[in-house]
Amino acid sequence: MNQPLPVSEANRLLQQLFAGSAADLNLLPANSQALLEEAEQQRSADQAAHMTPRRLAPYSLLGMQLAGLHQGNLLSAALYPELKQAESDTLDWLKSLFYLPYAQFSHGGSYNNLQALWQARDQDGHNRSTVYASQACHYSIAKACRILGLELQLIETDDREQMLVDELAKACADKPPLAVVLTAGTPVSGGWDPLDEALELAGQTGSWVHIDAAWGGALWTLETASLRSVSGQADSLGFDPHKALFQPRPCSVYFSRHELSATQETAYLRDAPKDRLAGSHGAELFLPLWLNLQMLGQQWFTEQTRQRLAQADLFARQLSQLTDGLVLNNGNGIICFSAPVGALQNLVADGVLSCARLNGQNVYRVVFTSYSTRADALIARLRPFL
Ligand SMILES: Cc1ncc(COP(=O)(O)O)c(C=O)c1O
Repeated sequence: MNQPLPVSEANRLLQQLFAGSAADLNLLPANSQALLEEAEQQRSADQAAHMTPRRLAPYSLLGMQLAGLHQGNLLSAALYPELKQAESDTLDWLKSLFYLPYAQFSHGGSYNNLQALWQARDQDGHNRSTVYASQACHYSIAKACRILGLELQLIETDDREQMLVDELAKACADKPPLAVVLTAGTPVSGGWDPLDEALELAGQTGSWVHIDAAWGGALWTLETASLRSVSGQADSLGFDPHKALFQPRPCSVYFSRHELSATQETAYLRDAPKDRLAGSHGAELFLPLWLNLQMLGQQWFTEQTRQRLAQADLFARQLSQLTDGLVLNNGNGIICFSAPVGALQNLVADGVLSCARLNGQNVYRVVFTSYSTRADALIARLRPFL
């Protein structure tokens, strides 16, 4: 492991790099300053509306600069052995977390869901076209099915947005599916499907199992042998470090238990990577993550994830003392709660929280995405209205 570069030093390097490329801020269009101010405002400890980390891991900006300077295209991987090595090192770490042997970086969770169902469809020997996923799954599953000509059937969930496994069992008995998509962290409330039981069921019908862990994947950085052994049995899994692991977009990972073609050739026109969604891609997908990992080690991610989740739990407990209404905490950093309609609209407009629909009801939603988001700062904003 390298000696950690102090963050202040990283910022100094960044300024030097910036000075070399963009000259004087005053020479940029006037609204550049407004853009910076907008970004700064969204970085405070009470901004929790979305799954967008407002405070990035410490070396991310430097990593983005490095990526911008490098510009290598991994469609011609042989030209960039150093970049390829950084990609492999980062993927090896991720593969060891999820116990899945093949992985590639991608542009986001929506692409991973499409990639998974594409791979499932092309490997199915029975011409099946039905896909089961929970009612609370991300809308990109429906989009992917539409693109691929598959038929999506939604399975009922309980009041924590967890798929009802008996309903899945009935559906599988009725019509064995091509694929079952399980969600580890639903977009609205962080609902967690019963991964073990659903995997077993899908195994009996020989169906592809894809785990959409775009949000919940960060829990795999904790010491969770049980999660790893579950993910190791899935056919594919998607995870977004650009949501819950403090990375800039785009930084997403698609894992598979089945071989994915590698792009090692310079002659990609002759030897096209036909089974990967991304065309040109390179350092922008992973160099910030790689640099953070090199400088800070996995332990940093584990600790920040623990703290982020602890802040979410604290917020849920404090909120429960202020309201008799629903407070739903599924344990992975998203809290949904009820409040009189319209009462908190100003906070929605300020980016403090968001509105959502949970089991047919309007709720407010707070997402602990950044390691700088604080329970007490959020409670202070909410208290006058509750
Ligand atoms: C569970 C889940 N899957 C997929 C996605 C889509 O991810 P992306 O925005 O990276 O395409 C989201 C986004 O919120 C999500 O919550």
